[in-house]
Amino acid sequence: MTSVTFANVWKQFGAHTAIEDLNLEIKDGEFMVFVGPSGCGKTTTLRMLAGLEIPTFGKILLGNEDVTLTSPGRRNISMVFQSYALYPHMTVRQNLAFGPEIRHENKSEIAAGIDRVAKLVGLQALLHRFPSELSGGQRQRVALARSMIRRPRIFLLDEPLSNLDASLRTHMRTEIAELQRQLGVTAVYVTHDQVEAMTMGHRIAVFDHGRILQVATPAELYRAPASKAVGMFIGSPRMNVLPARVSDDGGLVNIHCLGTTFSMEARHFVRDRVSDNIELGIRPDEIQWVKDAPSRCTQKITGVVTSLETTGSDTFVVVDVEGTEVNSKFPSFAPVRRGDTVDLIFDPADLHFFDAGTGASLKVRPANNN
Ligand SMILES: Nc1ncnc2c1ncn2[C@@H]1O[C@H](COP(=O)(O)OP(=O)(O)OP(=O)(O)O)[C@@H](O)[C@H]1O
Ligand SMILES: [Mg+2]
Repeated sequence: MTSVTFANVWKQFGAHTAIEDLNLEIKDGEFMVFVGPSGCGKTTTLRMLAGLEIPTFGKILLGNEDVTLTSPGRRNISMVFQSYALYPHMTVRQNLAFGPEIRHENKSEIAAGIDRVAKLVGLQALLHRFPSELSGGQRQRVALARSMIRRPRIFLLDEPLSNLDASLRTHMRTEIAELQRQLGVTAVYVTHDQVEAMTMGHRIAVFDHGRILQVATPAELYRAPASKAVGMFIGSPRMNVLPARVSDDGGLVNIHCLGTTFSMEARHFVRDRVSDNIELGIRPDEIQWVKDAPSRCTQKITGVVTSLETTGSDTFVVVDVEGTEVNSKFPSFAPVRRGDTVDLIFDPADLHFFDAGTGASLKVRPANNN
C-alpha cells in the first residue's frame, strides 16, 4: 500500500507533448480512475508510474520515495492491460507461476501464492485449463491473478474490461472494485466507460490533451463540474449546453435562455467572472417534463419533440426549442409523440453556468457537496 505523487511531470515524444505539467496525488488505498478522450495521455501516465516510460521532466514519488528513475522491476507495481497477454501454450497455473519462477522464487511459496490469488479471483477449479479453454471473463481473471501474485504496492489497470461483453463487464466491475477494497491496495484504473468511472472510483481524474481538468469524487464531478469540458464529458446522455445572456439586477442575476427568463441570487455566481454572455448547462435527467406547465412557471422552456428513444426504464427525448436541440430524459413510456409541443421545467439550482469564452464554471458551490 502506497501513496503516489506526480510533481510537475512532463512527457515529450519528440516534438509532441503527451503530458503537460501533471500534478496529482493518489492516496494510500485509493481507487483512482482516469478518464478522458483518446490520446489524452492516460496510458502514458500509467506507464510512467510503472516505470515503462521516464518523464521528460518532473518527479514521481511512491510514499516519500523518489522513483522517477527507478527500474520497473524495483517498483513492485503491477499493470493489467486491455489485452490479457496470457501465454497460450501454458495452463492457468503455469501462467501464474511463470513470473515468480523466472525470479527464482521458492517453489512452495510459488504454489502458496498461486493458491492465494486463485482463491481471491475464483480460479481454483480452472488452474489446469489452457487460456483457449476459458471465457473472456475467466481470462481476465487470470490476468488479474497474475498481477496480484507479487502483492504489488500499486495496481494499474488500463481498460481491463473493454474486451468483455456488457453483462460480464458489469460483473467484473463489481469484482475488481470489491477486490481492491478487500486488499486495500492503491489502484489506478483507466476506462472509457462512464458507468465504470462513476461506480468504481473513489476519485476520478478527467484528462484532456495531456492535462488534468479536474480531480474529484464522482458525485462532485457530476454535480459541480469545474468547466464545460468536464460537464460534457461526465454523464450520459450528455449535458445540454445552451447559449444564455445575463443581466444584473441588484442582488439578483437574470438569465435569459431559449425564450425564458429566470432569476438567481447573485451569491450563486462567481461575481467578477460573469460576463453578458454565458453558457448554461443542464443535464437531461435534471429536466422534468410536465403536460401543461402553469403559465406563471418561469423555469419552463417550450419546444417540439423531434425524436424519442425508449430504453425500457427511460425515454430519451430530443426537443427542438427555437432551433436548439435539448436532450431530456422522460419517464418510461411517457405519452408523448414526435411533433408534440411539450413544456420542460427545471430547478434553477440544478443548472450549471459556464464562461462562454473559457468554459470555466461560474457557479459558486457549497463547500461540502458530496
Ligand atoms: N511511444 C510513443 N511515441 C510517440 N508518441 C506516443 C507514444 N506513446 C504515446 N504517444 C502519444 O502520446 C499521446 C498520449 O497517448 P496515450 O496512449 O497516453 O493516450 P490515451 O489517453 O491512453 O489514449 P487511449 O484512450 O486511446 O488509449 C498520444 O498522442 C499518442 O499518440
Ligand atoms: Mg490508452
